[in-house]
Amino acid sequence: MTTRAVAHPNIALVKYWGKSDTGSNTPATPSLSITLSGFSTATRVRPSSTGRDQVTLNGSTAADAKIDRFLQHLRNRFDLPPVEIDSENNFPTASGLASSASGFAALTLALNQEFGFGLDAAACSGWARQASASAARSLFGGFATLTGPGWEAAPLLAAEDWPLGVVVAVTSTARKAVSSTVGMEASRTTSPYFDAWTAQTPRDFTEAREAVLTRDFERLATVAERSCLQMHALMLATTPSLLYWNGATVTGMHRLRELQAEGVGVFFTIDAGPQLKAVCLPEAVDRVAETLAGVPDVVAVHRLGLGEAAAAQTEP
Ligand code: PMV
Repeated sequence: MTTRAVAHPNIALVKYWGKSDTGSNTPATPSLSITLSGFSTATRVRPSSTGRDQVTLNGSTAADAKIDRFLQHLRNRFDLPPVEIDSENNFPTASGLASSASGFAALTLALNQEFGFGLDAAACSGWARQASASAARSLFGGFATLTGPGWEAAPLLAAEDWPLGVVVAVTSTARKAVSSTVGMEASRTTSPYFDAWTAQTPRDFTEAREAVLTRDFERLATVAERSCLQMHALMLATTPSLLYWNGATVTGMHRLRELQAEGVGVFFTIDAGPQLKAVCLPEAVDRVAETLAGVPDVVAVHRLGLGEAAAAQTEP
C-alpha cells in the first residue's frame, strides 16, 4: 500500500520565535496562523523495498538529517518499518513559505495512516510539532492556534468563514543565512528583549484570537504587524544580529503603509527571510498585488488564499 498526504504551508500572524525546551521542540510562546491555499506539499509513503529508509524530495534523492531524526523519534514509540518517502512541493522552495511546515505535516499524516499509528489530527499535530513547530499548525485549515500545555495545534476558524487573501512578494531567492532553529536559540540566549517577547506574545495571542473570532480585520492587522515587528526587534537585538530584511522588504512595507492610509484593507507579516506577505480583504488583493509587483527588486508575486486542512488517502 501507498499513502499520499497533502498539506499546505502556513504563515503565523502571532509569531513563534524561541523554545522553552529544545529536546522536545516546545515553543516558549503560543502562536496563531493562517493556512494557505494554492501552495501544497504532496508526500507519498510506503514500506521500503530495499530495507532502508529512502527519501526523495522534489524528484532527487535526499539525505535530510531532520527527517532521519524524526523517523528515529517515531520509532521509539511506533512500529515503523524502513520507509520510502517521496515528497513534492508545488511551490518554489525559495519562496519564503515554510516548506518544512507543510512537509512535516504531510509526512506525519501519511505515516500515521499508512502504518496505522492510530493518531487523530491533533495527535498528528503534536508529533509534527516535535519536528518543526510551525508544522503542527499545517494539519489544520483556515486559522489555527498552537498553545500549551499540550502543544498540539487546534483549528480556530474555517477558511470559508473568513476568506482573506494573501499576496506573497518574493524579494530574493537566495537561501536563508541562519536557520530558524539556530536563530531562535541565539535570540533566547543573547537578546535582552527575549523576556519582554515571552511576556507580550501571550497577550497578543489572546487579542488576535478574539480578532479572528469576531472577524475584526483592523484589530487583527494591528496585532499581527505588532507581533511581526516585535519578533524582528528581538532578532535584530540578538548577537550576532539577525537581519532578515533586504531593501525591497522595507520598501514594500512602506508601500503597504501608504495603501493602509488610503483605507485599503491590508497588513504585512515577515518571517525568517526577506519575503513580504500581505494579508488582505478579498477586494484589496488586486491593488495589493499590483503595488507589490511595482516595488524594485521584487522578483515574483503570488496571489493565494486560505486553505484546507491536511488530508491523506491510501491507495492499494
Ligand atoms: O517551526 P520553524 O522552525 O519552521 O520556525 C518558524 C518560525 C517563523 O516562521 C519565523 C514563525 C512562525 O511562527 O512560523
